[in-house]
Amino acid sequence: MKPLAPFSLERWFDKYEFVVDINLCASCAETTNTNQLLSMAKDKREAYLNLPLDYIESNGTAAFRQAVSNQYANISKDEILAATGASEAISMLMLADVTRGDEIVVQWPIYQSLFALAEALGANIVKWLPDERFRWHTSELENTVTDKTKMIVLNTPHSPTGFCFSTIQMKEIVHIVNERKIRLISDEVYRGVFYSDDYPAAAADLTPNGVSIGDITKPYGLGGLRVGWIASSDRDLLSQCAQVRDYTTMCCAAPSEFLAAIALENKEQLLREKIKHARQNIIQFSQFIENNSDKLEWNIPQGGYTAFPKIKVGMSSYEFCSSFVKEADVLLLPGSVFGYDQYFRIGFGLPPEAFSRGLERFATFLKNI
Ligand SMILES: Cc1ncc(COP(=O)(O)O)c(C=O)c1O
Repeated sequence: MKPLAPFSLERWFDKYEFVVDINLCASCAETTNTNQLLSMAKDKREAYLNLPLDYIESNGTAAFRQAVSNQYANISKDEILAATGASEAISMLMLADVTRGDEIVVQWPIYQSLFALAEALGANIVKWLPDERFRWHTSELENTVTDKTKMIVLNTPHSPTGFCFSTIQMKEIVHIVNERKIRLISDEVYRGVFYSDDYPAAAADLTPNGVSIGDITKPYGLGGLRVGWIASSDRDLLSQCAQVRDYTTMCCAAPSEFLAAIALENKEQLLREKIKHARQNIIQFSQFIENNSDKLEWNIPQGGYTAFPKIKVGMSSYEFCSSFVKEADVLLLPGSVFGYDQYFRIGFGLPPEAFSRGLERFATFLKNI
């Protein structure tokens, strides 16, 4: 295996995330705490406090896998593999399924681990590029895949752009992978956070070639529990991934998986407020862009908690975000971490009043440029 490239996004967060006053670029929902979760499942409070802090099943407890499988139409609890965050789900999939010389088509740009691990394992990464408004077209995908393509990797809803593949597009992608026997890895960590009525099916529900990656970090603001999963009806693949897990974390933390199941069982209640706040923040930001249209432009997100506005003031994204955080103690994410230097990522997961405080400081910063 070649050395892994530094993870640009994580290096930026490592420097600022826990010291900054307002983090205006997180990709998660407003944070949830243990008390909020347990108050939604009062009958489980005692069980949680008395939970043995031992190892648990490597593939996930039956209760957890059942709660995850309920998120899908055609996936049973035996077609779920628990993971320590989507991060471990991605690592297991790449380590289990990628070998030197594989051709992998990747929706571009994308969260770095979704291509960098495969690259380090010797795969040849081919970019599926968007149009100038960050929309990905399946016609372009058809032109990009070749007879050698082994895997297609995508992220929907997409970070950083907020783009979502429609129901029709997911069907077209599935048609391509089924016809050519290509594996489809679909990072769906923002699933559940859609702003339109089109709620496309998960890749794992659509085809045995489909693998859906999920987590509780993004939709529910539960990143500290470090729980995610792989869903697929390809049980051979799941068991290969499970063998990788014997070398990585062996199993999730017992309290985390217990709380994760509660979150999934109460997802409507949890999501209601978080999506409402994200929508309010998106509306605030639309107005903000209108007021600053000489300096910024954007595409309104269709899902997830982020967008990827363009900087029109002749500064690199690194310079722009570094100056802003130094002057105002507010964090944005430079687009350079995704290879797009004229852009930055903004996040909509904050409570609306914290979001507007961040925007006030952003307005002052822009005025002085
Ligand atoms: C698209 C995407 N996938 C996976 C992850 C990893 O998430 P986690 O390990 O917290 O579940 C992230 C985190 O930012 C992400 O943005």
